[in-house]
Amino acid sequence: MLDKIQQLKDEIQNLHVSSAAEVEDLRIKYLSKKGAISQLMNDFRTVAPELKRELGQKLNELKNMATDRINTLREEASGSSEEKATGLDLTRTSAPLPLGSRHPLNIVRNKIIDIFARLGFSIAEGPEIEDDWHVFSSLNFAADHPARDMQDTFFIQRDPADVLLRTHTSSVQTRVMEHSQPPIRIICPGRVYRNEAISARAHCFFHQVEALYVDEHVSFADLKQTLLYFAREMFGPDTQIRLRPSYFPFTEPSAEMDISCNLCGGKGCAFCKHTGWVEILGCGMVDPNVLESCGIDSSRYSGFALGMGIERITNLKYQVKDLRMFSENDIRFLSQFQSAR
Ligand code: DAH
Repeated sequence: MLDKIQQLKDEIQNLHVSSAAEVEDLRIKYLSKKGAISQLMNDFRTVAPELKRELGQKLNELKNMATDRINTLREEASGSSEEKATGLDLTRTSAPLPLGSRHPLNIVRNKIIDIFARLGFSIAEGPEIEDDWHVFSSLNFAADHPARDMQDTFFIQRDPADVLLRTHTSSVQTRVMEHSQPPIRIICPGRVYRNEAISARAHCFFHQVEALYVDEHVSFADLKQTLLYFAREMFGPDTQIRLRPSYFPFTEPSAEMDISCNLCGGKGCAFCKHTGWVEILGCGMVDPNVLESCGIDSSRYSGFALGMGIERITNLKYQVKDLRMFSENDIRFLSQFQSAR
């Protein structure tokens, strides 16, 4: 019997398995009721009394050792199958996680905000779901102005009062002016909506930044200098600007600003349609009607406003040809833009 115990000990010590199922087979073979060790326990009853002490000890040792060994094998087998299944390598050193990148529209938006912040403008925001007053009426839009039309504006409700998605961030001008008095110097970034067919050149939502400066003696010269400073900070120190007369209901006089094409340096290319200039924003002196409708004394105060599309500026900086790229969340596109902010 001693030999048998020793033989089982050696056997169990040298067991090797490759799966949890094999461990279970071994447990049954050695430790179950009909297993080899139980068999020896049965034989032990008939052993001569003077041998019982020594043999009993050895048997117990064998049983404990077998139980430990089977447990160890079970741990090894379950560990290795998990590693195999998940491809997990627990010995690998941790590597730095790849960092995400900023969305190009946010990079450009932050840059615009930075430039205006240096001139003392602070950020103001307003709701995307608006009413007629803030988007149109307070901004001097005539009752029959085409911009109010169904073709441009997404209406959420028409009765009893209009509720709509704002079509421009100029609505934030009203929101700020009706609750504060000059000096006002704000910049309003935000998303706007228009009912347009989606294509490479138009989308039903896009982003704008609006700037507003109202104080005593604000003149067109202040506007021009601000525009020049912005253009040079944004597109480089050699950038030229030009203002063309235009019309917006909320500014008088109104202008559109072009910058010298930053792709060809003003020489003329396909991007600027060989004119050397590209349009980037609308601006003007705040119409006295707008100041008055917001409770600001237009005989004492004057102001300028400007508004630009962030997508447009981003296209100029990065030459993104298809507007839809901005909202498709394609990592291959987005990961090309790196910025510290
Ligand atoms: N709100 C105009 C638009 O969406 C842009 C604009 C033009 C804003 C002139 C202004 C401005 O503040 O003065 O097309």
